[in-house]
Amino acid sequence: TRPGTMFEAIGGSDTIDRLVTAFYQRVGKHEKLIPIFPDDLTETARKQKLFLTQFFGGPNLYTEDRGHPMLRRRHLPFEITPERKDAWLECMESALDDANIDEPYRTAVFEKLTMTAHHMMNTPE
Ligand code: HEM
Repeated sequence: TRPGTMFEAIGGSDTIDRLVTAFYQRVGKHEKLIPIFPDDLTETARKQKLFLTQFFGGPNLYTEDRGHPMLRRRHLPFEITPERKDAWLECMESALDDANIDEPYRTAVFEKLTMTAHHMMNTPE
């Protein structure tokens, strides 16, 4: 693990695992998100762990497994409205608590994800 990365600061892959597990437990119960996600979130969570590892400065696991992220393009098949963007961020904010990610990292992680979430919107309300 490269020192000085957000990935390292928050506790590396153990923390990413806890965060992503907590996140999809919430996504799977959120009435606004259920319609666009698969019933079985195992594979979704696996890909998200690879992605967030890379996104926060850890090893480039996502690109090794899936190629260039092109996240906005990969989200185009799903109607991502402002309401769904808010729901996604709500689940993530709670998951940061569930995974015991403390300040100052909690805010830094959430801000980076908030910017990316805005970029994923592709459908008006
Ligand atoms: C995949 C929804 C934001 C990262 C997906 C999938 C959905 C979705 C429905 C497909 C799940 C599947 O087929 O397994 C949303 C919604 C968002 C959002 C509603 C609200 C803005 C984000 C953000 C990130 C992200 C902010 C990254 C920080 C990913 C990744 C995948 C994915 C890595 C897997 C792509 C692949 O390799 O197939 N998302 N997403 N998403 N999402 Fe999001």
